[in-house]
Amino acid sequence: MSAQPVLKLEDLSKPKILDENDDVKGFSCSNKDIDDFIQKEAFMFQEQCLGITYVFNYRSKLIGFATLCMGHLNKEKMKSEDRLPKHIGSYPSLLIGGLAVSNDYKRNGIGTFICDFCFDRAVKLSKILGCRFLVVDAIDSAIEFYDQYGFTLAPKQEKQKQKLMFLDITKRKNEDGV
Ligand SMILES: CC(C)(COP(=O)(O)OP(=O)(O)OC[C@H]1O[C@@H](n2cnc3c(N)ncnc32)[C@H](O)[C@@H]1OP(=O)(O)O)[C@@H](O)C(=O)NCCC(=O)NCCS
Repeated sequence: MSAQPVLKLEDLSKPKILDENDDVKGFSCSNKDIDDFIQKEAFMFQEQCLGITYVFNYRSKLIGFATLCMGHLNKEKMKSEDRLPKHIGSYPSLLIGGLAVSNDYKRNGIGTFICDFCFDRAVKLSKILGCRFLVVDAIDSAIEFYDQYGFTLAPKQEKQKQKLMFLDITKRKNEDGV
């Protein structure tokens, strides 16, 4: 097995919005649906205002991405102790519609770095419109990763293919300490 490249997070390019010049064809995270999405659909999603994809490059190579869109968190899907003491049925949220790191660069902290970026976007949005949670429909193999980051797994989802997880942005400090 070949050794994984060593990467310093500070060497990553600043995240940027996907455009037609980005080479997405070679991206692989070993999940076919996610690879197909970034290779074939992400740009079209963007053009149709369905999701903005932020790409993370290292030495001009795409090594990770996150697709963000507006979302909501239905309070009925949460444990009662996690609900807010407010009379609203669902909470405004930022949805991570897709997130992945390419195979060669996993376990270097890049996924966490991309989550930090998403979290920071949610905090920024919360200053200009209602946005209380960061939410994701996680595939089983990613649950531990999101759990490690601080997301809570919603209950009673054993039969679901993807599992709703959420993070209250007021309960986790961002880089500005807000
Ligand atoms: C899930 C994914 C984004 C994680 O990216 P990453 O860059 O490897 O994550 P990090 O290096 O920041 O990992 C942070 C912590 O998460 C946990 N973690 C990450 N990957 C894990 C895995 N496969 N199994 C168990 N725990 C994992 C570990 O605790 C890890 O810390 P450690 O490396 O010190 O043990 C990446 O594996 C991936 O792209 N997977 C395929 C696509 C996918 O599942 N996307 C999510 C769709 S919902």
